[in-house]
Amino acid sequence: MSVIVEADPTRAETLRSAMGPGVLVLTTLDDLRRHLDAHPGEDAVVLGPSVDQDAAFFLSDGMRINRPSLGVVLVRRRIDTPLLVDALRNGIREVVEERNLAGVNDAVRRVRDVAAAMRQRSSHGEDEGRRGVVVTVFSAKGGCGKTTLASNLAASLADNGRREVCLVDLDLNFGDVAIVLQLFPAHTLADAVPLLETLDLPAVMALLTPHSPGLSALVAPVEPGSAETVPASLVTTILQLLREQFAYVVVDTPPAFTDHVLAAFDQSDLIALLATLDIPALKNLKLTLETLDLLNYPRERLRVVLNRADSKVGLALSEVEKTLRVPIALHIPSSRAVPASINRGVPIQLDDPGHPVSIAIREFGEDHVIPLTRTSGEPIPSTMRADRRGLLRRRSRTL
Ligand SMILES: Nc1ncnc2c1ncn2[C@@H]1O[C@H](COP(=O)(O)OP(=O)(O)O)[C@@H](O)[C@H]1O
Ligand SMILES: [Mg+2]
Repeated sequence: MSVIVEADPTRAETLRSAMGPGVLVLTTLDDLRRHLDAHPGEDAVVLGPSVDQDAAFFLSDGMRINRPSLGVVLVRRRIDTPLLVDALRNGIREVVEERNLAGVNDAVRRVRDVAAAMRQRSSHGEDEGRRGVVVTVFSAKGGCGKTTLASNLAASLADNGRREVCLVDLDLNFGDVAIVLQLFPAHTLADAVPLLETLDLPAVMALLTPHSPGLSALVAPVEPGSAETVPASLVTTILQLLREQFAYVVVDTPPAFTDHVLAAFDQSDLIALLATLDIPALKNLKLTLETLDLLNYPRERLRVVLNRADSKVGLALSEVEKTLRVPIALHIPSSRAVPASINRGVPIQLDDPGHPVSIAIREFGEDHVIPLTRTSGEPIPSTMRADRRGLLRRRSRTL
């Protein structure tokens, strides 16, 4: 059930009719507190326009600790950025304008979805010590197929709802996960920025966009230039929170060693390094491997992936392996079905699971990612963290 708190009967009725049946209307926050005490399963509360703002913040801030799965939706006559920031900081999950009745309904649906996911997790007794596997897909060169691999790997791991997977788009300026998955997100990673140190699991869950059974995405900000506003520490927090909830977190990246990418590497149990069969891509891959060596990332956590590996371009795979001095863990064949699937907005993994590209990516997940499920260790120790920026600045001249 959901609850509305609104003292004005006309407003209360408007909100109630927007939210459909099974909604309880209360008039004061004291009534709400009593109701919540008596109904531990209550998971969505709408605070109407006449509820005092500070009292609403006080309530939601307290609920964040005492009842993290409860989602509080604040309805206000007008919304501006300072109000949004204040509200989110105080544990309000969503703020909606009074006249946007469809928005109220959507917000309630989202907070209920979050509550259901959190309940499911604790009913499995997975609260303690649960640690999902984080896989980052990276290449220092654009257009190698990072987003293709990340989205299809995430879809194959989710396996139509058998596992819970979150795809995170860290290509903060030019991320296209939302397009590739044809999502219409209500929130992006930029919405986590004002929360910073108050960010908790329910708040991160509220920023996700569901895609298909088992698969959700945290999409990149819409405006280019947003990357500068996102501190790398936020990426760390987000990934740490997501791995508490999801069995697998797959991270798509921009083609550069940004602080965000380094933060993701630190959280990763596995880094898939992508290249195509051309000299510039292979040169970048070699420099990437050397850079990761210098940064002390253990080689056993790296996997080299060759995309469009069957292209007849005059480079032999054996030569490539010899030059790189690492085995190639996955060959993704080249196929026109890949851009076609992207244009349709459905990962080829879901559209055509029998396609050679789908099979190759699924096998990579089965052979290299799923086996990490129970044995994933602590985050990679970053012994050289202090030196990183200088080192990378030197490196970036050669990359
Ligand atoms: N195996 C493949 N066969 C054919 N086209 C591919 C393949 N992998 C990627 N592409 C195409 O290459 C382009 C770049 O892929 P994308 O995944 O967006 O790369 P990145 O994220 O590294 O920039 C896209 O148009 C995609 O459809
Ligand atoms: Mg991409």
